[in-house]
Amino acid sequence: MHDTDDVSNPGTNPSFEAIMRVDAQRRHVLRVGVSAAAAAFLPWALQRRPARAAGTPPITFAPVPVSADDAVRVPAGYVAEVLYAWGDPVSDGPAFRPDASNSAADQQVQAGMHHDGMHYFALAPQGDGSNRGLLAVNHEYTDDGLLHPDGVRTWSAEKVSKSQAAHGVSVIEIRQRVSDGSWEVVRPSVYGRRITARTPMRVAGPAAGHPWLRTRDDPEGMRVLGTFNNCGCGFTPWGTYLACEENFQYYFRTASASVAQRRYGIGKTAGYRWEEHDERFDAERHPNEPNRFGWVVEIDPFDPCAAPTKRTALGRFSHEGAAHTLAPDGRVVIYCGDDQRNEYIYKFVSRDAYDPARPAANRDLLDHGTLYVARFSSGGTGEWLELSYGRNGLTAENGFTAQAEVLIHARLAADRAGATMMDRPEWIAVHPARGEVYCALTNNSRRGAQPVSVNAADGSTPMASANPPVDAANPRADNVFGHIVRWREAASDATSTRFEWEVFMQCGDPTHPDPARRGNIRGDAFGSPDGLWIDGEGRLWIQTDVSPSVLHKGDYARLGNNQMLCADPVTGEVRRFLTGPRGCEITGAVGAPDGRTLFVNIQHPGETPGERSDPAHPDSISSWPDGGRPRSATVAIRRVHGGIVGT
Ligand code: FEO
Ligand code: CA
Ligand code: CA
Repeated sequence: MHDTDDVSNPGTNPSFEAIMRVDAQRRHVLRVGVSAAAAAFLPWALQRRPARAAGTPPITFAPVPVSADDAVRVPAGYVAEVLYAWGDPVSDGPAFRPDASNSAADQQVQAGMHHDGMHYFALAPQGDGSNRGLLAVNHEYTDDGLLHPDGVRTWSAEKVSKSQAAHGVSVIEIRQRVSDGSWEVVRPSVYGRRITARTPMRVAGPAAGHPWLRTRDDPEGMRVLGTFNNCGCGFTPWGTYLACEENFQYYFRTASASVAQRRYGIGKTAGYRWEEHDERFDAERHPNEPNRFGWVVEIDPFDPCAAPTKRTALGRFSHEGAAHTLAPDGRVVIYCGDDQRNEYIYKFVSRDAYDPARPAANRDLLDHGTLYVARFSSGGTGEWLELSYGRNGLTAENGFTAQAEVLIHARLAADRAGATMMDRPEWIAVHPARGEVYCALTNNSRRGAQPVSVNAADGSTPMASANPPVDAANPRADNVFGHIVRWREAASDATSTRFEWEVFMQCGDPTHPDPARRGNIRGDAFGSPDGLWIDGEGRLWIQTDVSPSVLHKGDYARLGNNQMLCADPVTGEVRRFLTGPRGCEITGAVGAPDGRTLFVNIQHPGETPGERSDPAHPDSISSWPDGGRPRSATVAIRRVHGGIVGT
């Protein structure tokens, strides 16, 4: 969502050239120029690309063509069925009204809008749980033109309440019908639950209770109402869901933003207009309220009474997702992208090891550990820079007096440490067998451009935008199609502070007249990668989020609606698996444990460039899935005659 040109990073950290100089001195190796840097990691790439290694996943479906249809298209032999659309009851609540006349109270027990990240939790005892489970689904944001019968023509406290209720997370119980293999939501269900922008939740970890988190309504700084703009997601080995708070800045308004608030994009523009009827979103009056968002929220899907918990040890920024792996010693490592132009890639390493035999001991594992941010150097090497108070310049003289401040102002800390500005880090996925970590860098049309004077959301206090030059990890100027980078931690230990990396794929259109726009995809064309998921057999699934402002136009004229593709991490081959309806993005992939059902989210079908539909003509672009107002929805995809999805 919000595929905008917003930027909040004034770019005070070292340029790529400066880093290269340091690296060259350090290693006494002279490497100049991007091509030399790129060549330096070719041996790793060549080692793994051309020959199919034993045990790599087969991809045998016939790819689908690009599409401009208002429909979900999947390969021959597959079926995609709508399971859970905006407004559907979570349990036994009220049904969706096609004219959007459901009340705010109704919306609190119905599917929110704009489905995004999601995870499937098997319910035992049912075999391996592949036929019955819980689905946790993020509802990233709202189109208030669709949410209310008359859109935003009038504005009221009831509309703000409904908008807040359409944000957050759903937990639903689902099962597969024995009769025909299709899926349904179990209603009623004791697990059915909505978490919204008003659900009480705990704050935990090093920043909990810090003065910067205290507000009039929460003088202890320990209890927050709600989560919103939950974009990508993650899960933990102990069976909890991680909902990530991304573009929280668009919900707050202040005419006198501090430097730190501007670094997070907070300013005069609050696109959701909540502050007009809910005072805490007026950051002028409640300047600490924005500090309570931008976190990773841990949710126990199996306990509808458990309060969600904001895990501050993972840092505060526009969290796209949270992909975990386990280090050889059992410590939990979580990778997170900060999705804004020129922002960074982070990882958290837990202090303690995960112990499957002691579930209670794992409950607060995410409260203790070390946060790092990535620096990608030339020559295919990289370093994780520790964001701990007292290290890497995070000292009082530089404005940091405690670890809580480092975490609340993680972007500022990462600037100080010298992280690498990336082309909008979106989802991250860890290969279960190979250990490689993949990150989608969706696009950056300003990479390499002349510096301009811009600011965060409001434009009131111009700051110099760095528009960083191309570098080895972000090798294309005006990177409208994006790329996928991957790395491997030193000694195959995810807690390492060194890694090797390469550009896995430059996205693009091979028929583009400009050679720089063609990319190097081996297979079907796409751009703006966003969602990533690696299935149990090691296939890399890629989902795209091309902004409605450029879909079918200009550089994207030949790439059709947003899509989902399947890639072989070894050969790099890519096949188009799915195309979505008009105006949507594709996001949120997860399989049932047996690999025979793939759940995917169709987000914001029919979206206009302004993200607000005209309520007089709500279906002017799309009427997916049922002929009326377009509705974001989860679809269940399986093979007609059974089998593993993707083979
Ligand atoms: Fe919500 Fe970065 O996509
Ligand atoms: Ca996304
Ligand atoms: Ca995106």
